[in-house]
Amino acid sequence: MCGIIGYCGQKPAVPIVLDALKRLEYRGYDSAGIASLSDGELLIRKDAGKVDDVIRKLNLASLPGNVAIGHTRWATHGAVTQSNAHPHTDCGGRVAVVHNGIVENNRQLRQGLIAGGHKFTSETDTEVIPHLVEDELRNGCSLEQAVLNIAPKLEGSYAFLVISLGDPGKIAGTRRNNPLIVGINGPDYYVSSDALAFSQYTNQVMSLEDNEVVVLTREGVEFFDARGCKLVKQARKLDHSWAESSKDSYQHFMLKEIMDQTQVLDQIVRQDEKTFTETALDILRARQVIITACGSSRYAALVGRYLFSKVGKKFCDVVMASEFGYFADSVDKNTVVIAVSQSGETADIIDGVKAAKDAGAQVISIINRPNSILADLSHQVIYLNCGAEIAVAATKTFLSQLALFYLLSFSMINDFNEASAKLISLNSEISKVLDCNKSELITLSQKLKDKNDFYYIARGINFAIASEGALKLKEVSYVHAEGMPAGELKHGTLALIEPGTPVVVICPADYTFNETLSNAMEAKSRGAYIIGVSDKEGDLYDSWVRLPQVDELLYPMVAVVPLQLLAYYVAINRGCDPDKPRNLAKSVTVK
Ligand code: M6R
Repeated sequence: MCGIIGYCGQKPAVPIVLDALKRLEYRGYDSAGIASLSDGELLIRKDAGKVDDVIRKLNLASLPGNVAIGHTRWATHGAVTQSNAHPHTDCGGRVAVVHNGIVENNRQLRQGLIAGGHKFTSETDTEVIPHLVEDELRNGCSLEQAVLNIAPKLEGSYAFLVISLGDPGKIAGTRRNNPLIVGINGPDYYVSSDALAFSQYTNQVMSLEDNEVVVLTREGVEFFDARGCKLVKQARKLDHSWAESSKDSYQHFMLKEIMDQTQVLDQIVRQDEKTFTETALDILRARQVIITACGSSRYAALVGRYLFSKVGKKFCDVVMASEFGYFADSVDKNTVVIAVSQSGETADIIDGVKAAKDAGAQVISIINRPNSILADLSHQVIYLNCGAEIAVAATKTFLSQLALFYLLSFSMINDFNEASAKLISLNSEISKVLDCNKSELITLSQKLKDKNDFYYIARGINFAIASEGALKLKEVSYVHAEGMPAGELKHGTLALIEPGTPVVVICPADYTFNETLSNAMEAKSRGAYIIGVSDKEGDLYDSWVRLPQVDELLYPMVAVVPLQLLAYYVAINRGCDPDKPRNLAKSVTVK
């Protein structure tokens, strides 16, 4: 949540920071702002609204300066207003701060600062930071020393950047449990929540560990540990696939990322077979295996659980990451915890994983984003390798997670290569699903755009796909939707079915077909509008979304794709922006 960026170098800073804000917008898009140092002045402009609107409204492109910081906000403390937008300043407007995360003890700090004569102008937790820096600078500290001195006073998780007229020409920053990464290109220095913000300028990056401090000047970049001792760091090369963030000719990232799924499996299977075999053995040997994840990643984990049981004969449990702490008592050194997270930043997961590690568990993570906090915490990381996903709604990363679970489960029976070959051959089936259903889905979305409630049902391995289809629709279209095992419908939810209620029935022609259809019939008898998602025609479908025939365990990967497309088209028909759904952000770094 929230994206921060800083630039210091030879070039005009503001265009670089503005460009970065657009690339960081997936992290939060309710407000945006910028602070720039120019000719002895600290210029600050900010407002509520999407990045492009704020840039236009405040004419931000005209701001001068070679040192600047910027912010895109996802509100946690304080309403979405101009005064709560970042950057925040000290009493004299001489210090500016952008922050991602939450300062949990901000109330106590604020009270102390107010007692000391400081004046606050926002409701945010962040504003304590510039005031604390102000005191340190007044005592004669350098900017980096000020950051080193105040960081231990802040509780919670954060990454922040600060600039000041009192120590101009530099940006200082630090982080704890939130990402901060530095990019270097000759005399130009960048620092951001995500390398994607500057990956068009450089692929040379350096990461900060928790509590380390960085200072950028036109002369270079320096790192310090929490005691202020200088650190020597080597730059690394950023993975090429992570640098790409263009929509190409698509109207939205979500649509592009749905379409990317026709090729993504080729990349996913580029894994080290030995690592998979060893990881699979660790899972098989463990006394208990717990998969922890949130949202779409949790639905992928539910498919994973099914695959582990069906293929590897290994039972495991899936625990929602925000609830994991309440189950942690049974975790010990004979436990394998598999954390699944596109971003590797989700606070609920990070907390659970830390507790599990403390209890002695082995932590294996499945992550997309490189250089994440979760990766640092894990004993073993498997990357999705599917490139950056920008739209808030997970699509290609969900498919990639399913594919990785498929590979892992077949590695349990030493069939990695056969599983890879099957995944590669699925590319063409995914293309077929998209091609043959596109016009049907457009028509369907027009027809159903004003419906208020959707139900998605399926059985067995496809139950999680029903839940994922419903989540996609909720996220991007703001329509109530529920996914459930088909057999559960009659245990309560059937009471909600009225004439015309859309029920999406995922019923591939496998062993679940007849039973799922019986449940669909129960809904149809109450007037439901049945959308059959299947490779087999059924009399009771009002609309039919066609699936290709594939192996039973591969159906989730072909069935989810049209459901993503349906959600996308419903969003478009309802006038919603599918890339930036209201109230949401891609990385959920708060609990
Ligand atoms: O980055 P993560 O996979 O840990 O994120 C988990 C959820 O926040 C995420 O899957 C969310 O549900 C998506 N927006 C779903 O489209």
